[in-house]
Amino acid sequence: MTQITLRRPDDWHLHLRDGEMLAGIAPESARHFGRAIIMPNLVPPVVTGDQAAAYRDRILGALPEGSGFAPLMTLYLTETTDPSDVAAAFDAGIITALKLYPAGATTNSASGVRDFDKVRPVLELMAEKGIPLCVHGEVVDSDIDIFDREAVFIDRVLDPIRRATPGLRVVMEHITTKQGVDYARAGGDDLGATITTHHLVINRNHILVGGIKPHYYCLPVAKREEHRLALREAATSGDASFFLGTDSAPHADPAKESACGCAGCFTATNTLSILAEVFEQDGALDKLEAFASRNGPAFYRLPVSEETVTLVKGDPVTYPAKIETGAGPVTVFDPGMPLHWRVEG
Ligand code: DOR
Ligand code: ZN
Repeated sequence: MTQITLRRPDDWHLHLRDGEMLAGIAPESARHFGRAIIMPNLVPPVVTGDQAAAYRDRILGALPEGSGFAPLMTLYLTETTDPSDVAAAFDAGIITALKLYPAGATTNSASGVRDFDKVRPVLELMAEKGIPLCVHGEVVDSDIDIFDREAVFIDRVLDPIRRATPGLRVVMEHITTKQGVDYARAGGDDLGATITTHHLVINRNHILVGGIKPHYYCLPVAKREEHRLALREAATSGDASFFLGTDSAPHADPAKESACGCAGCFTATNTLSILAEVFEQDGALDKLEAFASRNGPAFYRLPVSEETVTLVKGDPVTYPAKIETGAGPVTVFDPGMPLHWRVEG
């Protein structure tokens, strides 16, 4: 096959930031994607419906002229989130989901949840209204090894929350383990999981062998090869539980290339070419549309895009190594392999 046409893909987990960074990187997502679930971990975080509406307007203002890209907003769940504000923002079409960060789990997560009993009324409202909860699934206990934090979270936090809140719709964000794949697959219609582009390509060796590679460091951190293979199998299976959420997370290079580098891989620019290469390698190009364009809207109960993109195979395509922004240069994820699929339209 040398050409494939898909419904326009969506990105069900994206960091667009704010200010100069937003202005610099928003066009990278808007070029190929139709919609994206926008993460609320700004500083300070997006916690109210009014803040989400204002942030949505700033995003729309950063898009290229004529762009049809639609940001789907989320609220950052805190222990003081007001259920009536959530209900009003959802009913007004301002927000699509809420995001749960365990406090301290990742970039700008200090306002996240420590005591899950405190968010019980919000979770119950969400279950009643069918508002999805996007979950960063890692425990933060210092005695749990960083490579085990996702699997432990499923047992100790996620499964108890789901059992205690029947009907709560949950997206396991950026799963990185076989345990995540197995749990998502068994979870039924109210459970979905996003998988990033980079976790389909790298394992933990890529970060650590031959010198530390800060641009491959993200959270949850990439795991052993057996886990990457489980993610590949899940993404390319066509199973409706799994859909694309790039977690494209720009940081200016000095913040990554540092003695304490930030977590995040920036994949907005080249994601579709990488995915086509990955799905072709696994003999699953016919499943790419399910993963990138159909399973996500089905979970979120939104229509599939009426637009299409076409990927054409040919000589290797190159992408810029960095995107220059007013907030500094942002290194584009290097998949470490030639990419042969060019995106048209
Ligand atoms: O690698 C990551 N970067 N993981 C996250 O959970 C947050 C994100 C960011 O905001 O930079
Ligand atoms: Zn993220």
